[in-house]
Amino acid sequence: MRTPTPSVFIRGLGAYKPSRRLTNEDLSKIVETNDEWIRTRSGISERRVAAPDETPDVLGAKAAAAAIENARISPQDIDLIIVATISNDTPVPSCACRIQTAVGLRPGIPAFDIVAACSGFIYLLQIANHMLRAGDYRNALIIAAERLTGVTDWTDRSTCVLFGDGAGAAVVSRCDVPYVGILGNVLGADGAKGDLLSVKPRDVPAPPPPPGLTVGANIVRMTGKEVFKNAVRVMSQACRGVLEKCGATAGDVSLIIPHQANMRIIDAIAGELEQPLEKFKINLDRFGNTSAASIPLALEEAWTEGRIRPGDLVLLVAFGGGFTWGATLIRWWQPEDAANVAQ
Ligand code: UT7
Repeated sequence: MRTPTPSVFIRGLGAYKPSRRLTNEDLSKIVETNDEWIRTRSGISERRVAAPDETPDVLGAKAAAAAIENARISPQDIDLIIVATISNDTPVPSCACRIQTAVGLRPGIPAFDIVAACSGFIYLLQIANHMLRAGDYRNALIIAAERLTGVTDWTDRSTCVLFGDGAGAAVVSRCDVPYVGILGNVLGADGAKGDLLSVKPRDVPAPPPPPGLTVGANIVRMTGKEVFKNAVRVMSQACRGVLEKCGATAGDVSLIIPHQANMRIIDAIAGELEQPLEKFKINLDRFGNTSAASIPLALEEAWTEGRIRPGDLVLLVAFGGGFTWGATLIRWWQPEDAANVAQ
């Protein structure tokens, strides 16, 4: 268990959702599928598709600018930037370095990318938490940005119906109020199961993409049923693990934000934790699976909808390729809430 201070809290959230919608009906013109199958097997009705010039750094910069504005600090106050993505088309310069310039952050601050697939945002929170608590930084900008339609195999109906594009960001700051913000984290990985869900170069050259969509050098491959079973088991364990670490129960939690991969996975986790589905934030029907961006997109939406109040316990949980997983428990707090949070 961590020491009471300093605490690390989410000061501001931002999101960017590309405007173009790709519906299940649209997909039924690309592969042999239908709206009914996609909705009943995954819960997804539509997803967003980035414009040709909206690479992950462009999506991420828009979410980052919104997060800084909502945090009510200056870009000059950010002293660390970290990005999670699996869909960046150029490894160097990193997405983080590009966003540093695009958003007008100070030159000279550290900037780097991480790869933890759908668990990327939970990994970012944990990295920022430790770097801030160690004392060298005050305000970190963490961003998850994905253009998954660029790594989609448009000939594979079992995967191409699942993924979408988007970005979410948070400004994470240090403060001296005890036991607020990030209360605890669990992270894990199992490389032995890596081939069950991967993004790898194609074996054969790509056929031309469907009109208005793109094909990239890498594509997603997934053994859906195995990933599904592991996701339910591991996400439920991660929730129990972080709750136990923080001395809390699932009943104490006001809002659960799970990775948005499949409605049936979320249903199963609700059953495992014996919590009502109403406690879960769900937006996969409108955005599909956006990998690392999924949790910050859902968190930002829940916050915008007023579903998070000062002092609430919010549980974030993710599972993804690698395999990777993680869960974070947060006691929601913002500087202006100081008077309202029981210490
Ligand atoms: O982001 C990281 C975490 N990701 C996940 O957790 C995803 C986990 N997996 C899943 O969400 C589900 O496994 C899927 C949604 C991907 C697939 O659902 P499923 O119930 O496991 O279906 P399945 O792959 O076993 O396929 C069942 C049937 C097959 O036909 P047969 O062999 O029974 O005749 C598939 O060919 O459904 C067929 N099928 C489709 N039919 C219509 C597969 N994809 C489609 C499709 N449209 N798009």
